[in-house]
Amino acid sequence: MKKILIFGICGNIGKYLLDYFLNSESADFEIIGIDMIRCDYVEKNARFFQMNINNRNEFDSLPSEDIFAVIDLIGPMPARMEGYHPEEYVRTNIMGTFNIVQFCVEKKVDRFIYAKSYCDILSRAEKEITLTVDMSPSFDYGNQHSIYTVSQLAAVELIKCMHAYYSLKTFIIRLPTIYLWSKNDKYFVKGKVAKMMYRHMIDCAIDGRDVEVWGDPKRPKDMPYVKDLCQMIYKVCFVNKDEGYYNAGTGVGISLINQAQGIIEAFDESGKSKIKFCPEKPNAPQYIMDIKEAVDELGYCPKYSFLDMLRDMKIERKLNRF
Ligand SMILES: NC(=O)c1ccc[n+]([C@@H]2O[C@H](COP(=O)([O-])OP(=O)(O)OC[C@H]3O[C@@H](n4cnc5c(N)ncnc54)[C@H](O)[C@@H]3O)[C@@H](O)[C@H]2O)c1
Repeated sequence: MKKILIFGICGNIGKYLLDYFLNSESADFEIIGIDMIRCDYVEKNARFFQMNINNRNEFDSLPSEDIFAVIDLIGPMPARMEGYHPEEYVRTNIMGTFNIVQFCVEKKVDRFIYAKSYCDILSRAEKEITLTVDMSPSFDYGNQHSIYTVSQLAAVELIKCMHAYYSLKTFIIRLPTIYLWSKNDKYFVKGKVAKMMYRHMIDCAIDGRDVEVWGDPKRPKDMPYVKDLCQMIYKVCFVNKDEGYYNAGTGVGISLINQAQGIIEAFDESGKSKIKFCPEKPNAPQYIMDIKEAVDELGYCPKYSFLDMLRDMKIERKLNRF
């Protein structure tokens, strides 16, 4: 049986991706998960190897035959980092990623798929709201995202070298914030723990409290659901191409006011929540991801509208799986 290896399978996206594969028509493939942490859901549903990608010798414990695809979802990022440890970005995003790609070459893997952030181009959306695949990087060199951004750009350049020299098929997926239901509603802002804004808005609606809309309520944001991202990754696994670069997203912007309305519609069962405008508070980022390449080359078609996503999150909340 051919194998698909998912590195970072115990992370937020990895667990959903495993679920997607288990429910798809990929019965001819065995899914194998790799992570440095453990996770019951993963270990019940897939063969699992615990290892650290920064240690080259730990790759020896992995399967070595008939690996068709390797998906790399490992990447320390500011939203998961307590304090500030930029060396972790350099170590894992550059050297760890390179270790995985070398493993792919040695084991004659057909294709390597890498998830990176949209941090390299996000600031461009203040002038041009639609972020295209071919935009050149433009970012601030002086904040806690800078070394993260550079480390992922370096990883992408290394992947391009490995593609050109060894003819390994390589695919890059650029991710904006991916929305999903998780038991963990926290993330880190400048190294300090905080509640995710959309989870705060959802909690307000569940409790029948007012949902605040900060800054300009018309600023739109592309809000891809993790299950649509999984569709994209799945399609990349089987596309008949040697390389590709895709933006994850929906191609549609949801304004903050529409976000608040949708959250109240989906989660407020008491009918008491109202929208409270707070124009004095800071604006949220704005951006729409151009998904043309994914639509044309992969046949990707996002299935979840914003409301569909919220309704599905409600189901996941009840299932309490992830
Ligand atoms: N989730 C998002 O909204 C988002 C947005 C932009 C980019 N991304 C990128 O997508 C990828 C996956 O995102 P996620 O939300 O699932 O991240 P996550 O942090 O939830 O999961 C990453 C997983 O990688 C594992 N890991 C980290 N370092 C490791 C190492 N050295 N060896 C082995 N395992 C290691 C962690 O244990 C974790 O389970 C990351 O590369 C991230 O940079 C995610």
